[in-house]
Amino acid sequence: MNLEEIKKSAIEAIESATIKEALNEIKTHYLGRNGLLTGELKSLKEMTMEMRRDAGPKIQELYAEIEKKIEAKLQLFSGSSRKTDYTAPGKKFQYGHIHPLSQVMEDSAKIFRGLNFSVISGPELEAEYYNFDALNIPANHPAREMWDTFWIKGEGKNSKSNYLLRTHTSPVQVRYMEKNSAPFQIVVPGRVFRYEAVDMSHEVNFYQLEGLMVGENVTLANFKYVVEQFLKEFFATMDKKIEFRFRPSYFPFVEPGVEVDIKLKGKWLEIMGAGMVHRRVFEAVHYNPDEVQGFAFGVGVDRLAMIKYGVPDIRLFYSGDLRFLKQFKSS
Ligand code: PHE
Repeated sequence: MNLEEIKKSAIEAIESATIKEALNEIKTHYLGRNGLLTGELKSLKEMTMEMRRDAGPKIQELYAEIEKKIEAKLQLFSGSSRKTDYTAPGKKFQYGHIHPLSQVMEDSAKIFRGLNFSVISGPELEAEYYNFDALNIPANHPAREMWDTFWIKGEGKNSKSNYLLRTHTSPVQVRYMEKNSAPFQIVVPGRVFRYEAVDMSHEVNFYQLEGLMVGENVTLANFKYVVEQFLKEFFATMDKKIEFRFRPSYFPFVEPGVEVDIKLKGKWLEIMGAGMVHRRVFEAVHYNPDEVQGFAFGVGVDRLAMIKYGVPDIRLFYSGDLRFLKQFKSS
């Protein structure tokens, strides 16, 4: 064999080797004491000075090249002395799946998209102005106590540079209206935070879905239709007809304000706050409250999920417990 042939066959052999042992054999075959290339090196002795000067470096170069290739490939197998067993059954991959709360938010957004609502988002780290002031909840207003707040350290010069973790998704109403004009209809799914004691129905972090529809003639009757459509579709998989009611309530950014309850096993459960957007909110975003009106609502996503899937404790959603989560695999 000449050098070219040796090189070709060695490289082919190295490339097709699939186990460590094969590489060791190749090493012996080419570079071992009686190896092909070793033989070539030995044959240098029989050559004339001139031939040796030409052939010597070439053989040595090839020797080094093959050695390097074998070592590099051996590296791939280092750490495991086991032979690969090509007959072993394949390993089953564990696929993750979407979290039930994400699923509920996606499902809800989809229903609202079907009702011609756009899906919008806003920041979780929010300015005091958007979370409170612009929603008709000025500093020192007792209504602020409705939302136990995580304040961010460091006082800003004013409520626009004073930060908190948003306590509801309502600030996105203001952010949206500052940049867009009526008519429109949006929903805002998102994470909110409350500085509260945790129990089976309260978490320091949970999810809401805000809705806002503004136009010339938008009324509470339109809201009633929208919630009804939403609830019907959302709970379509539950066999019983879903019953709901409006109950008068108070939120500073709506007038009138209502709470929506749904009936479950004979008991009324609160699932959202809602109402007609307060004129002060329109004024804050430079809308003319005599020209437009609208409804707003904020639904508790965790509540919806608990009801739909019969989950007794909100903390389960945040536990990261796979025994719990795996039950939602194909939902
Ligand atoms: N933001 C209110 C809350 O978190 C809910 C709400 C939204 C009420 C919109 C009225 C209108 O409690």
